[in-house]
Amino acid sequence: MKTLNLGLLGLGTVGGGVANIVNNNAHDIEARSGVPVCIKKALVRDIDMEKARHDFGLSMVETITTDVDDILNDPEIDIVVEVMGGVDIAYQYILRALHNRKHVVTANKDLLAVHGTELFALAAQKGLDLGFEASVAGGIPIIAALQQNLAANRIESVLGIINGTTNYILSAMTSQKRTFQEVLAEAQELGYAEANPASDVGGLDAARKLAIMSSLAFNCQVALDDVYVEGIDNITPEDIAYAAELDCVIKLLAIAGRSRPGDGRPEGVTVKVHPTLLPVNHPLASVDGVFNAVYVVGDAVGETMFYGQGAGSLPTGSAIVADIIQTARRIITSTTGTLSPQYYNTIPIVPLDQQTTGFYIRLKVIDEPRVFANLALFFAEADISFASIIQKPRRNNRAEVVFITHPCQEGQMRKALTALESYPKLEKVYNIIRIENE
Ligand code: NAP
Ligand code: HSE
Repeated sequence: MKTLNLGLLGLGTVGGGVANIVNNNAHDIEARSGVPVCIKKALVRDIDMEKARHDFGLSMVETITTDVDDILNDPEIDIVVEVMGGVDIAYQYILRALHNRKHVVTANKDLLAVHGTELFALAAQKGLDLGFEASVAGGIPIIAALQQNLAANRIESVLGIINGTTNYILSAMTSQKRTFQEVLAEAQELGYAEANPASDVGGLDAARKLAIMSSLAFNCQVALDDVYVEGIDNITPEDIAYAAELDCVIKLLAIAGRSRPGDGRPEGVTVKVHPTLLPVNHPLASVDGVFNAVYVVGDAVGETMFYGQGAGSLPTGSAIVADIIQTARRIITSTTGTLSPQYYNTIPIVPLDQQTTGFYIRLKVIDEPRVFANLALFFAEADISFASIIQKPRRNNRAEVVFITHPCQEGQMRKALTALESYPKLEKVYNIIRIENE
């Protein structure tokens, strides 16, 4: 092979990062790949001279196209780099690329969380690579770590801050006391948020990444629907202030765990994404801004943590170009198609009601005798024990109460909250947030 030709599907935030890296680091990339790497074509929706494509070092006339056939039907293009986003069209283009015997590298977790299994199988069957390092945690090499570097282990748990936008928002709300909307707009300007930021804020983006990561960690197919999801929409400055009082921070955590026969928990896999109170001394508590981190515990290696920028042009481009280099090496050694995920386990998903966690519960109640005692009874009747309690008087004979519970089953908490709903002295449940105890 004289040159490794890339066809980029998309030249936005991530595609631009790829183009910059391929141009700026051309010498090292060639030395590491064993072949010069060149962007032959880049697909965009609309060729707009106002968009600063020339910043990416690409010639507008020769390289940029609005016709996908210029890439998918070009026999000289070796690797299709899908960085356009969306599910349906991207899926069709990747299928066509694989059928036309092109390797694929993608950053698209939305697509992989739905069609990953089918596409990995097709790539393997055709002896092609399908690289997806950039689909989880941007520049952090967590996919390679789970697939290769930690392959000797039985993975016990994976805990991650894997959405840069929400971590950026929660960090700024905590340290700068800024409003949710203000910081979200900034995250969008910086290119961290998805085209529709509802999937970031609502936890879906992290759930997609968790489905991908946990499938690799436990070698079983975890579907997006298996993941319990809650976003950060309900988190208020008051919750953040109470968390600080409790020596905790609030983070959107993606949590996957595997319980095994005899360890005292229902056997299976737990997969969930939700805002979490995290003690300030937890390794993930100081991961701020757009940074992501993934904390993995394996039976042999023990605790490990992977840290870096989880979104943005160059960090995500870094993961894509690493996949391109790996594929170039495998093309040269005729070993492509050998690294597909292996799903040899069938493990049940533990139902949410049977999962165990601590809770933070913030309520507004009428401030009069016996109310506090009665509140405590609702929880006692569900066998829930308190670890700490905060009560603050508010105006108009109202009080704000925060209960912190010891770990209990979600089903017990549901029972207590259902009973509590009918208590006439309860005016409002402000928020219920899970606590990470391990
Ligand atoms: P983006 O900035 O919106 O760029 C998308 C690019 O794809 C644009 O160049 C756009 O063309 C082109 N495009 C989109 N739909 C197209 C279509 N139907 N036909 C032709 N061209 C089309 O998106 P991005 O932030 O780079 O994200 C790309 C992918 O990377 C997504 O799957 C995203 O989830 C993933 N990702 C993003 C980040 C991040 O930090 N942004 C990090 C990790 C993974 P125009 O330029 O003409 O609009
Ligand atoms: N919107 C995503 C985030 C981009 O904020 O993490 C990286 O996948």
